[in-house]
Amino acid sequence: MEIFRTKNVEQSIRDTEDPEHQLRKRLTATDLTVFGIGVIVGTGIFVLTGQVAKQTAGPAVAVSFVIAGIVCGLAALCYAEFASTIPVAGSAYTFAFATLGEFPAWVIGWDLILELALAAAVVAVGWSGYFASMLASFGIPLPTSIAGEDPVVNVPAIVIVAILTAILVAGIKLSSRVNLILVITKVTVVLLVIVAGLFFIRAENYTPFIPAPVPTEEVGGLNAPLIQVLFGITPVAFGVIGIFSAAAIVFFAFIGFDIVATAAEETIVPQRDVPRGILGSLAICTFLYVAVSLVVVGMQRYSELSVTAPLSDAFISVGHAWLATIISVGAIAGLTTVVLVLLLGQTRVLFAMSRDGLMPRSLATVHPRFGTPARLTVVIGVVTMALAGFVSFGELAELVNIGTLFAFVVVSIGVMILRRTRPDLPRAFRAPFVPVLPVLSVLACLYLMLNLPVETWLRFVIWMVIGVVIYFGYSYWHSRTAAPVKGGR
Ligand code: ALA
Repeated sequence: MEIFRTKNVEQSIRDTEDPEHQLRKRLTATDLTVFGIGVIVGTGIFVLTGQVAKQTAGPAVAVSFVIAGIVCGLAALCYAEFASTIPVAGSAYTFAFATLGEFPAWVIGWDLILELALAAAVVAVGWSGYFASMLASFGIPLPTSIAGEDPVVNVPAIVIVAILTAILVAGIKLSSRVNLILVITKVTVVLLVIVAGLFFIRAENYTPFIPAPVPTEEVGGLNAPLIQVLFGITPVAFGVIGIFSAAAIVFFAFIGFDIVATAAEETIVPQRDVPRGILGSLAICTFLYVAVSLVVVGMQRYSELSVTAPLSDAFISVGHAWLATIISVGAIAGLTTVVLVLLLGQTRVLFAMSRDGLMPRSLATVHPRFGTPARLTVVIGVVTMALAGFVSFGELAELVNIGTLFAFVVVSIGVMILRRTRPDLPRAFRAPFVPVLPVLSVLACLYLMLNLPVETWLRFVIWMVIGVVIYFGYSYWHSRTAAPVKGGR
């Protein structure tokens, strides 16, 4: 069927050479690793660690990080193979176009919009929260109408997105430099937590390492995880099951390594460096997460950890408030880079979709001086500002998780398909144990998806239905790949 026609890999690569739609190739493996860490280390480590230790896993939260890291590692190997074979902007969207066809590619592109734009807005709101509390600690409280928990307009969130959009328009190399400075600050602060925290660890805080399971209040209706509704499982906190439930939550902390693949087209030697960037940033972040969570649950009893600012509050609990302030500054720097790279990933996916005609092609033009998709970047910036400034998210962050896991599933399936359909393609990086590894990756991602609430599933389905309507109303008719069949439109 026409909607399943694939875009051949050579065509994808040729499209990137069209001078009018060409991105500049300037990034190295180090740039990509920094980009990866920039987008991965964020609210996950600065907030979730405490929340999950306190409510779901106890000191064994470190094990949850290891499990989530392994699930992401399986998907990362698939992303690495794909990105080394098809180094074209667009990541999972491009991979799906090469293997599953135009319509599935549209679905995944639409899904990535959900992941990236929404995540950028959610993290910008988190940034605003840290920023407001830091100003307050210096004696400059912001009015509750423009910042804080439920503002009328979240002004700091809008401002940070506006600044980052301007940086992205100005050029990818500049973006990666700004990112580098912020990532160094963030990683230094994380290392400081690990090293300084070691001195305050009390061995008794590790016992029990896996607290005995306790049934949680029945979470009912739309808030119940889908797995519970399907199999009638009563949710428990702690115990071994708690470790796995916690893994589904801390998965959020790993989101971002996939975005490294969206910068493949701007990499000087993508076949070699994109796999290095993806796997390197994931490995470094897993190490940091495990170390930080072990230190924090050693410093303070898990049941007493803070759920909003666990790292800084752990230092306040041992009498070092000045370190807590430094950690807040690190968190602000850290969240800035997360928003920056999420926005970057979003522009590159939409760029690829517009270049293919599935979105208006005029969006895919590259600015002659900056060499970036400036028009598209501004459009995305404005939409993200509107989301971050006026919408209160809360549980919408879970939509980000489901969207990402769905993309992982498609990419893992895609790797198996491309090995069959195009065994001839040069693959600078080959995922080991195919097809066992991609199959495991699909199963692991599906398991985590099942742990998300029914409400999230419903929102996800509604978003996808809107996407299907747009595809058949616009994209199908404007697609460049299928144009000859549809009469050259
Ligand atoms: N992984 C990113 C974070 O933790 C999304 O904020």
